[in-house]
Amino acid sequence: MWYRYIIGVILIFTIYFLLYYFQVHSSFATNLLFYSFSKKDQTSRHTAIILAKTPSVRVLKHLNALIHVGVDAFVMCDEQPSKYTNETNRLLYVNDESLAQYGLNRNRVWDRVFVWLYHQISIDYVWLMEDDLTWTNVHHMVDLFDKYANNSADLLSRNIIYRNPGTLGWMWWPKVFLKILPENKWSGSLNMLSRVSRRLINAHQYYVQQLLSERKKLNLTQFDNNYYYQEFLIPTVGHMFNLTMLIYDHSKMDVFFLALTENNIRDSLANGKRIFHAVKHDSPLLINATVIKKK
Ligand SMILES: *[C@@H]1O[C@H](CO)[C@@H](O)[C@H](O)[C@H]1NC(C)=O
Ligand SMILES: *[C@@H]1O[C@H](CO)[C@@H](O)[C@H](O)[C@H]1NC(C)=O
Ligand SMILES: *[C@@H]1O[C@H](CO)[C@@H](O)[C@H](O)[C@H]1NC(C)=O
Ligand SMILES: *[C@@H]1O[C@H](CO)[C@@H](O)[C@H](O)[C@H]1NC(C)=O
Ligand SMILES: *[C@@H]1O[C@H](CO)[C@@H](O)[C@H](O)[C@H]1NC(C)=O
Repeated sequence: MWYRYIIGVILIFTIYFLLYYFQVHSSFATNLLFYSFSKKDQTSRHTAIILAKTPSVRVLKHLNALIHVGVDAFVMCDEQPSKYTNETNRLLYVNDESLAQYGLNRNRVWDRVFVWLYHQISIDYVWLMEDDLTWTNVHHMVDLFDKYANNSADLLSRNIIYRNPGTLGWMWWPKVFLKILPENKWSGSLNMLSRVSRRLINAHQYYVQQLLSERKKLNLTQFDNNYYYQEFLIPTVGHMFNLTMLIYDHSKMDVFFLALTENNIRDSLANGKRIFHAVKHDSPLLINATVIKKK
């Protein structure tokens, strides 16, 4: 029944975002880091960025697997990566001061990656993935990326909803109304794996600046930080600019609002799923996710 589907969608959104909200964020004062962007591999057709709290061994293995199959891959860290590992130009960081220039005070990795992307004008399309996304074999990621290589959509996402009477229950809608982002443009998307275009990145930058000037006009108590939730902001700014937003083919993807257990993964594998979220442990069933085969 349609209403069960809608309740299901709302439930998934709600719990997923609740978990996101309670994710621990550190706010160490950090030094400014300058990165030399490596010369782009001409053979690589896709760019991907893993969004990670820290560059853990697990994250670096996933990065390595993506690079190995020809993806121009990076990790955007939520903390200064040099605290944890040797600096490479694949490990990215944007400090809190740089975020503050855009009025982004929540210091989230999603804000860091967008501020970084504002300035990477050579990137037309980029896949973003959270660090608890994994796969049975990295070739399944390349297959998905390839499938949309010729698709010009500005946002490819796991799910997209629009503000309408059936979606009012989504808990991340702002409670305060702003003229610059009218309610009929409000949208929500599930972005644990998503692709954004340069046009969408530019729209994001434009509206982050608009929100900052709006906030300066209003009293802070009147401002609603839900405007900054990436799950709201990304599709809503896309909608404002009339950009194309699509739900990608997720027939091989299993997304669960709690961390998947070994049993969940075993069942999903039996159902033909090959890409998983959220996986917080080193699953023996996904042992080949980051295996690099010698040529
Ligand atoms: C950094 O690199 C040096 C030499 O290449 C190595 O000895 C050291 O263990 C590395 N440190 C980390 C944290 O990876
Ligand atoms: C995308 O376009 C390229 C070049 O035109 C072509 O070789 C490739 O098969 C196309 N891919 C898909 C999935 O349509
Ligand atoms: C902001 O709040 C102050 C005191 O509460 C009030 O005097 C002022 O008019 C408010 N400004 C706006 C733009 O609402
Ligand atoms: C988006 O489309 C609407 C309706 O067609 C139009 O009024 C509006 O100007 C467009 N906005 C942009 C930014 O192109
Ligand atoms: C991992 O790959 C090896 C070699 O291709 C294969 O024999 C093994 O069954 C795979 N393991 C899992 C859990 O998929």
